[in-house]
Amino acid sequence: MSTNNGIRKVVIPAAGLGTRFLPITKAQPKEMLPVVDKPVIQYVVEEAVKSGFDDIIIITGRNKRSIEDHFDRCHELEERLSGQNGTEPYAKAFFALEEIPEIHYIRQREQKGLGDAVLLAEKHCDDEPFAVLLGDTITIEPIGCETCTSQMNEVFKKYGKSVVAVEEVPDYKLKDYGIIDGELAAPNIYVINSIIEKPAPEIAPSNLGAIGRYIFTSEIFDCIHKVRPGYGGEIQLTDAIRMLDHPLGLVTNCIRYDIGDKPGWMKAWIELTLGREEFHDDILCFMQELLKKEEMRVS
Ligand code: G1P
Repeated sequence: MSTNNGIRKVVIPAAGLGTRFLPITKAQPKEMLPVVDKPVIQYVVEEAVKSGFDDIIIITGRNKRSIEDHFDRCHELEERLSGQNGTEPYAKAFFALEEIPEIHYIRQREQKGLGDAVLLAEKHCDDEPFAVLLGDTITIEPIGCETCTSQMNEVFKKYGKSVVAVEEVPDYKLKDYGIIDGELAAPNIYVINSIIEKPAPEIAPSNLGAIGRYIFTSEIFDCIHKVRPGYGGEIQLTDAIRMLDHPLGLVTNCIRYDIGDKPGWMKAWIELTLGREEFHDDILCFMQELLKKEEMRVS
């Protein structure tokens, strides 16, 4: 785990209804969808802890109880496993962590948007800078590199400005992201002049989309207070970011998986399964067979 020079708080919004995943999200949170053998939100919590953020607040909503259960201790399982795994600490059996982190939960009672969800953490964050990691996005750093959030934190420490992780997105995906209008100020760092939530391709200011990782100064709360309902009739975080004093956009070297819709989820499954040594050969062989069958079917 890296230390991060003081920032400890991280807010993980996980209150959305998951309508793009119905029917699977009718009675279970989209953040609990599995990718290989872990729910999506576990990847997010592990990223936060690996980046040195150990004061975690998850913004939940109705039907999200299983998130709390997942990060709770389960004495029955613990007893059962301690017999099998000898001295392996319980946390390590399930999480890529030494200990299960302390997690606070705040419920968003009404679906008023991402900006509103982040605002619920205002009292907890007080005047401190904090990170926001969306609960439906996974980022994986190259071997030997820092996590996405750690890379952002380095930029925050250097410039003292809020940082938004961005990535080039194809034209057909512009309508799914907050898109920045930025000026390159240093390698991979943009000064953000403006940001628009889910623009039509004709009015998108660039192809750089916010990927769901942010570090904010507490100024963001004042901005969210001023935001009026925007895209989709919701309080958009993007509209508050536009009011910040020259926030920065950072392109990191991490791979990002957007679990916001079914194809994104399926692609993450495939790629992350292939990344696991114990499944790699078997699944690759299966995929090659599948491809051959598909080629024969269309020829
Ligand atoms: C949210 C944000 C958007 C951002 C995206 C990243 O949209 O509003 O600005 O680009 O996350 O995944 P959502 O995917 O919740 O609709």
